[in-house]
Amino acid sequence: MVNEKVTMLRYRGSKFSSVKKLDIFPKVEEPFKETSPVGGTFSIISFLLILWLVYSEVNYYLNSRFIFKFTPDVALDEKLKINVDITVAMPCYFLGADILDSTNQNTFNFGNLDEEDTWFELAPNQQMHFDNKRHFNSYLREEYHAVKDLLWRSRFSTQFGELPPRNDKPNRPHDACRLYGSFVLNKVAGNFHITAGKSLQLPRGHIHINAFMSERDYNFSHRINKFSFGDPSHGIVHPLEGDEVISSFGRTLYNYFIEVVPTDVNTFLSSTNTYQYSVKALARPIDHDKGSHGIPGLFFKYDVSALRVTVKQERDHLGVFLARLCSIVGGVYVCSGRQYIFITIMSQKHNYRDLSIVKIDSIDSYLKQ
Ligand SMILES: *[C@@H]1O[C@H](CO)[C@@H](O)[C@H](O)[C@H]1NC(C)=O
Repeated sequence: MVNEKVTMLRYRGSKFSSVKKLDIFPKVEEPFKETSPVGGTFSIISFLLILWLVYSEVNYYLNSRFIFKFTPDVALDEKLKINVDITVAMPCYFLGADILDSTNQNTFNFGNLDEEDTWFELAPNQQMHFDNKRHFNSYLREEYHAVKDLLWRSRFSTQFGELPPRNDKPNRPHDACRLYGSFVLNKVAGNFHITAGKSLQLPRGHIHINAFMSERDYNFSHRINKFSFGDPSHGIVHPLEGDEVISSFGRTLYNYFIEVVPTDVNTFLSSTNTYQYSVKALARPIDHDKGSHGIPGLFFKYDVSALRVTVKQERDHLGVFLARLCSIVGGVYVCSGRQYIFITIMSQKHNYRDLSIVKIDSIDSYLKQ
C-alpha cells in the first residue's frame, strides 16, 4: 500500500508537488481564520508565561552549581602553610610557642612567629573589628551548609583582614602577648603549642623553662584572630577565627584537635589549592592534687586528611540549555492551544441551545443559497 502511494507520487511527475504533499503545516485560508478576545487573552498569558520560564531558565543556566569530589590525596610532598595570630593574656616573657611535627624536625627552620607585647583588652576600633568577625564566623559555622555555594560563587571573602592597630594606648603595663606569623610545614600531623616558659631545644626534644613563675602568673585566656592553613582563599570558613576564651582558672589546658582537609576550588574565574579544617575543642583545668595532670597551655593538634576535596563549578551544556528553551516555548504554546480549544468547547456546551439555533439557522441559509 505504501509502495503504491510512493509510485503514484512518482508517477505524477513534478518533484515540487510531491514535496508539497509532505507539508505537515496545513495552511488555513484567510477567511476561515477567526480571532477572539479569549484567544487573545490566551496568547498574552502564554507569552508572559514563556517569558517568565525563559527568564528563570536563563538564570538557572548562568547560575552554575558546585560539584564535590573526594579523591585520595597523593600530593604528599606539598607543604602545609599555617597562619596564626593569637593573643594570650600573659606577657610575652612568660610564653613560648613551638611546633613539633611527626618528623621530629625543629619546625622553626620553616618560619618564625613574631611576638608583640600588648594589652588583652582591645581598643574600641579593634573590638569592633573582632566582634564583627566573631559574629560573622559563628553565623557561618551554623549555616555553613546552606551558604557555601554563595560564598564560592560571589568570591566572598571571609577574611576580614588584619586586626587594625590600636587607636588608644592604656596607661598600664602590658598584660598580654600577641603571637603572629606563618610557617611552612611538612604535610604531616603536628602540634603547635603555646605554653608557659621559653622553649629550649635539646637533642632529644625540647622543654619549656618556667621555673620562675608563680601560680598567679598563669592565665591562658586567649583570642584567636587568625588561624588558617594554606593561602588565603575566597569562600573558606576558618572555624577558629573570632574565638575568645576567658579562663577563670589560670592553669588550664586548652586542646584543639584539628583535621585539615586539602581543598581545591575551581571556579570559572580562578582555581585555588588551599585547606579547610574542622576542629574539636577541649578545656581541662590542670590540678595535680585532683589527679588532672598535664601542662597548662594552648595545644593545636593538627592532622592532615588522607582525602582531598575538589570543588568544581559546573554548568549545563549549551545544547541542553537550548533544548530546554525550545521545549519551554513549544510546550507552553501547545498546552495553551489545547486549553483554549477545551475552554471554547466547554463554553459552547454551556450555550448549547443558542448554538443549536445558530447551527440550524446557518444550515438553513446554506440550503437557501
Ligand atoms: C585572665 O585574663 C582575663 C583578661 O584580662 C581576665 O578576664 C581573667 O579573669 C583572667 N583570669 C585569671 C584566672 O586570672
